[in-house]
Amino acid sequence: MNFRVLLPIAVLLSIVSIQTSAQQSRPLTSSLYRQRFTKTLHRLQHHQQPTPTTSTHNLGVTTSAGPSVGRVRDYFLTVEELDWNYAPTKWDHLYGKSLNDSMAALYTVHSLNPPRVGAVYRKAAYRAYTDASFRMRISHDSYLGTLGPVIRAEVGDRVRVRFRNMASRNYSVYPYGVVSRYDRSKKAGAPITPGEEHVYEWDIPDRSGPGPKDPSSLVWAYVSDANPTRDLHSGLVGPLIVYKRGLLEPGILYPTKQDFDQEIVTIMMVNDENRSHYLTQSLALAGLPTSAGIDLTDATFRESNRMYNVNGFVFNNMEPLMLVQGSRVRWYLMTLGDEIDIHTAHWHGATTLIGGHRLDTVELLPGTFRTADLVPDNPGQWLFHCHVSKHMMAGMSVFYQILSTNGEEW
Ligand SMILES: *[C@@H]1O[C@H](CO)[C@@H](O)[C@H](O)[C@H]1NC(C)=O
Ligand SMILES: *[C@@H]1O[C@H](CO)[C@@H](O)[C@H](O)[C@H]1NC(C)=O
Ligand SMILES: *[C@@H]1O[C@H](CO)[C@@H](O)[C@H](O)[C@H]1NC(C)=O
Repeated sequence: MNFRVLLPIAVLLSIVSIQTSAQQSRPLTSSLYRQRFTKTLHRLQHHQQPTPTTSTHNLGVTTSAGPSVGRVRDYFLTVEELDWNYAPTKWDHLYGKSLNDSMAALYTVHSLNPPRVGAVYRKAAYRAYTDASFRMRISHDSYLGTLGPVIRAEVGDRVRVRFRNMASRNYSVYPYGVVSRYDRSKKAGAPITPGEEHVYEWDIPDRSGPGPKDPSSLVWAYVSDANPTRDLHSGLVGPLIVYKRGLLEPGILYPTKQDFDQEIVTIMMVNDENRSHYLTQSLALAGLPTSAGIDLTDATFRESNRMYNVNGFVFNNMEPLMLVQGSRVRWYLMTLGDEIDIHTAHWHGATTLIGGHRLDTVELLPGTFRTADLVPDNPGQWLFHCHVSKHMMAGMSVFYQILSTNGEEW
């Protein structure tokens, strides 16, 4: 056969196949839906045992009836308002210059004319306490900055978060990836008013834990869902780490040293302080009351309020993260936000394993959480930064230091 014969046949065949697929993809009518659903129901009823239920009266007790609730892990969380300094050392360590003399000036140096807030903004953050009296705060690792306390659980656990809203606005705690237990009194994430308390219960089934190609733990986030976008830009997000069974020490909330020696959690994000609940307060703090006729829509002013940060720090103002040569470091990466939050987390001086792939740069989009494993081998001080040029130049960068195990200077 030659082309003259083949071509019409091919055209004919493709028309037939287009028609067939158009027929197959015609919109499902509700009766079709019903038909398909009935089949599914039938299959489930006849081939699968009914899912056993867990009794809420047996918390902490392993029962033989169905999936057991393992340990109940209690956390005591608050939201608190604070005046947060994105550049507490008052120095641009990325370029090795005074904040005044670098790119950092726009974002971090206060001025009345033109109006610039500087590095200090009123924000809200999650913090943890030792018990329900909310009298003793658990010290917050300083590198975590604005990021909330790490909540840890292993597969099979139940996490119980007693939340007290110590801020002046409605907030809540809403987790990704785990199962919020149905609560008659509050829709998951519903606002808790200032001064009020609420107890959240989250179950951690297998589907919340590491998958077949994951390492032994992975990170989700918890956020405030009262006003999701503005709560986030105000500072409310924290990490929720889920381990495979048997990796958390009984009774205490830290992992055994089975699979890694150290954990680090970072979030890369552009906090738009113009979208925080506290813009007015931040302006007032900076001696720039809105009554002074500040043009809130001025493009440069708006840009000056976008903070390209890692854990609430810009221009390497986070104290360097300390890693030990040859140790096993598990690094959890998070990003939330908007179109601008397309980040490429990049390590100088080390490579990582992520899902079996060797990478020194990992792409993060809003709402993606990744777990990277690295064994640092090259002592010295290195950059960990977002590789998007604009973000790096605007300060989304921190140092980490690899300490030599043989006492060498670097
Ligand atoms: C930065 O500039 C401001 C005002 O121009 C000045 O008050 C401040 O001392 C300068 N800071 C540094 C570190 O040079
Ligand atoms: C806070 O939440 C309460 C209770 O849901 C609601 O009545 C109130 O309007 C909320 N306040 C704001 C400022 O959203
Ligand atoms: C800044 O935020 C305020 C408050 O949300 C909003 O009204 C205003 O439109 C924002 N400015 C711009 C230029 O988007």
